[in-house]
Amino acid sequence: MSTIDINKVRADFPTLKQKIRGKDLVYLDNAATSHKPQCVIDAIEEFYRDYNSNIHRGVHKLSQIATDKYENARKIVKDYINADSTEEIIFTKGTTDSVNLVTNSFGRKYLKEGDEVLISHMEHHSNIVPWQLLCEQIGCVLKVAPINDKGEIIWEEFENLLSEKTKLISVVHISNSLGTINPIKKIIDAGHSRGIPVMMDAAQSIHHVKIDVKELDVDFLVFSGHKIYGPTGIGVLYGKKKYLNAMPPYQGGGDMILSVSFEKTIYNELPAKFEAGTPNIAGAIGLGAAIKYISELGLDNIAAYEKELLDYATEKVSAIPGVRIIGTADHKASVLSFVMEAAHPHDVGTMMDMDGVAIRTGHHCTEPVMRRFDVPATSRASFSFYNTKEEIDVLVKSIEKIIDMFS
Ligand code: ALA
Repeated sequence: MSTIDINKVRADFPTLKQKIRGKDLVYLDNAATSHKPQCVIDAIEEFYRDYNSNIHRGVHKLSQIATDKYENARKIVKDYINADSTEEIIFTKGTTDSVNLVTNSFGRKYLKEGDEVLISHMEHHSNIVPWQLLCEQIGCVLKVAPINDKGEIIWEEFENLLSEKTKLISVVHISNSLGTINPIKKIIDAGHSRGIPVMMDAAQSIHHVKIDVKELDVDFLVFSGHKIYGPTGIGVLYGKKKYLNAMPPYQGGGDMILSVSFEKTIYNELPAKFEAGTPNIAGAIGLGAAIKYISELGLDNIAAYEKELLDYATEKVSAIPGVRIIGTADHKASVLSFVMEAAHPHDVGTMMDMDGVAIRTGHHCTEPVMRRFDVPATSRASFSFYNTKEEIDVLVKSIEKIIDMFS
């Protein structure tokens, strides 16, 4: 049973208090990006207003404050996912940047021609294309575990694809287009029992379920700030120190070095080794504020409330004739993708916008999922703890209106 105080929570999010085309905004595009609580907006504003300065470089007061706040944000992330050390927390631009870091650094160090990386059929393009680029460059092979008609990994087939050639498993925790919660612990254990490290894409799970990297024993974890109620342009790569220490830098530049000469450059220690150039200081500080905010609400609380919303929406939407839900896994979170016989998803999205309802339509950067379900695109409503059942009623009415108009 959740104890979310919905009125109090909604008051924290200024963007929600607006009308779109004369109607109350019903924001159901949280899987694309979430809105920001006032405390995050304030943290970013304070940085630029009060102590804007570069970090790790100045002895002056403002630089010291900025450095402390930036490093404190790293500690907040470390505590949130229960990492061993702040050295294991690398700030990146986002999930995509984090995956590319692992692909280029881990991939080039540990993989060679003929080696395999195993992903699933429900990956976001950001966990497909970087691997395809690596395969083109070094001749490794991308293996794809199939999914069933509900949108779940077919376990026997997944296991059958593991072999002595597999050098990394890289899977999404919660699918952005289907909502499937993958059995991540089982996947990690299956990898480790064969000596294979595992990376999890937590872009859609880091704010919906509690994640403890030590309990999971996961080797790499990636997520973005903007989906967890923080700013865009900031993300995280968590990696076990034994891998991060052994991996070469991904990018070269300022702050990632101890000393530079034309003859030899010595790289910095973790985490600076992977943070070349001036980072997104305000972004990291905003992310820290966002994590503090949702930690105070409580992840279990959030998960229970969002499950109520998903169950309610699933029941209502699946009862509408002519609507098919895509993604019916036994374990799902916060995402309801559907197609309508009457109208193409893009028309659905445009019509809903007239009612003030914001959903995402398209392939959701998961084109292979669309092909698997033989649909060109879906309409996707995705829920946050600041949504309400009344908003879902507006969504349902809007769907019914569209069916009436197009039939
Ligand atoms: N990956 C984001 C989504 O699912 C953008 O919409």
